[in-house]
Amino acid sequence: FAALIACTALPAAAQRDIRFESPQAPTSGTLVLAVPQVADGEARGGTFAQIDAASQGALSRAVAAAAFTGRADSQLDLPGIAGFDRVLLVGAGDGAPDARRIEDIGGHVGRFAARSKAPRIDVLWEGAEAGAATQLAFGAALGQYRFDKYRTTRGDDEPAAGQGELVVRSPAGAAAAQDWDGDWKAVAEGVKFARDLVTEPANAVWPEEFVARTRAAFAGKANVSIEVLDVPAMERLGMGSLLAVGQGSARPPRMLIVRYNGGARGEAPVAFVGKGITFDSGGLSLKPGENMWRMKYDMTGAASATGAVLALAGRRAPVNAVAVAALAENMPSGTAIRPSDVITMYGGKTVEVMNTDAEGRVVMADALVAATDERPDAVLDVATLTGAQLVALGVRHTGVMGDDALRDEVVAAADAAGELAWGMPLPEQLRASLNSRVADISNMGDRFGGMMTAATFLREFVDAGRSEGDAAARTPWAHLDIAGPSFNESAAYGYTPQDATGVMVRTLVGLIEGRAR
Ligand code: BES
Ligand code: MN
Ligand code: ZN
Repeated sequence: FAALIACTALPAAAQRDIRFESPQAPTSGTLVLAVPQVADGEARGGTFAQIDAASQGALSRAVAAAAFTGRADSQLDLPGIAGFDRVLLVGAGDGAPDARRIEDIGGHVGRFAARSKAPRIDVLWEGAEAGAATQLAFGAALGQYRFDKYRTTRGDDEPAAGQGELVVRSPAGAAAAQDWDGDWKAVAEGVKFARDLVTEPANAVWPEEFVARTRAAFAGKANVSIEVLDVPAMERLGMGSLLAVGQGSARPPRMLIVRYNGGARGEAPVAFVGKGITFDSGGLSLKPGENMWRMKYDMTGAASATGAVLALAGRRAPVNAVAVAALAENMPSGTAIRPSDVITMYGGKTVEVMNTDAEGRVVMADALVAATDERPDAVLDVATLTGAQLVALGVRHTGVMGDDALRDEVVAAADAAGELAWGMPLPEQLRASLNSRVADISNMGDRFGGMMTAATFLREFVDAGRSEGDAAARTPWAHLDIAGPSFNESAAYGYTPQDATGVMVRTLVGLIEGRAR
């Protein structure tokens, strides 16, 4: 019954609709104007000058009084200028802004839009280069993210999210709408899908509910098929790792497989594999209480992998892709796995579980084998896998490991998409640290370089389901540890809000489309 209520609930947060128009400046309402940085005392032309004249110089006086120069990542909010209710100036910085800076400007616009009660916000972008208007809209779409579903009260200046529209006015005019509808909008939706699932608490999203939300999001999308393995199905297949990690919870695990075939029939897909621990208490190797709440984020990999396929389906990309999500809740109980338990994984390898809190690598093993069942061109797994990732790379950079060529391809795709990622090695000696006294491998190894230790464990399971002769052709594999970047506990920056980020959706989409070209 609870499940029924949860899956009929409204989407977590509606958003302002985005439209595109020609660059005429309105003379009333709420206006956002991107202004280039100028030296002290230097005059601005264009719409800035028009509004300044219409306001008898009030605009330039306000700008001077506030010492607003238009530097990048600055803004000035001015109520009651000329005929406008409000004018927001956003600094466009020095010189011609690149794609990243335009997205950041969009982020400012989005955050402003999410707090504004105005039914319509006009955003004026006077730069002529093609693509800028859609880039700005993308930043605004991601920057306006809010999650208000569970709020029954809000501050006076906070309207309900998602009211009204955002009109981007630029020289590209309505032509930008084509770009937006065909390309960008679906990626923004994929990111939003991931953020919503991650932000939801663990009493709202558990494995079956993750599946239900996925079905709802993909409803009506062409060339999509969804397969869900329940406990009996996983028992038949011998998916011992997902069953083992899930066995301590009252909410049973699921293996979710979402196939999108927008490319040539029979062409090998690219497989995205995601860690979907809907809550990671640590299990019997219980985590300390203080930071345990964070572990609702432990399904970000599954959300990003599925969100990337949602984006591809939404934009009808001419590619074949599959997302494999290992969904389980890691709980301590009388039925939970114990430290020292030996389990048999999908594909037949055995693992000694020395620490039930190293559950991510365990569930990912079955999912990696399930992914290679799809006979993919490449396997990319995404997981909030280790605290060591935060120690090594901090909160913003995704750690990328795996086969050298694919690892470098992921880092390049992240650079192109404007996400932060860094390649890391897989030192050979780490494998020995995972040796078990009783099984093929232990789930605990060297603490130093723990991010790479976890990746070394995963590497053992790529192609572990294949027969001897078959295994000669090894599937290219890369592993993305997003423990830090999955959530942003600092203030919002660029188009990244506080809390769930939806990291790596853009990168995965960019990578697969780069391959198709
Ligand atoms: N989900 C955690 C990793 C994590 C930690 C993600 C902090 C985000 C923030 C993972 O399941 C875990 O608990 N890993 C252990 C592994 C250890 C027991 C070898 C860790 O990193 O401490
Ligand atoms: Mn854990
Ligand atoms: Zn975990």
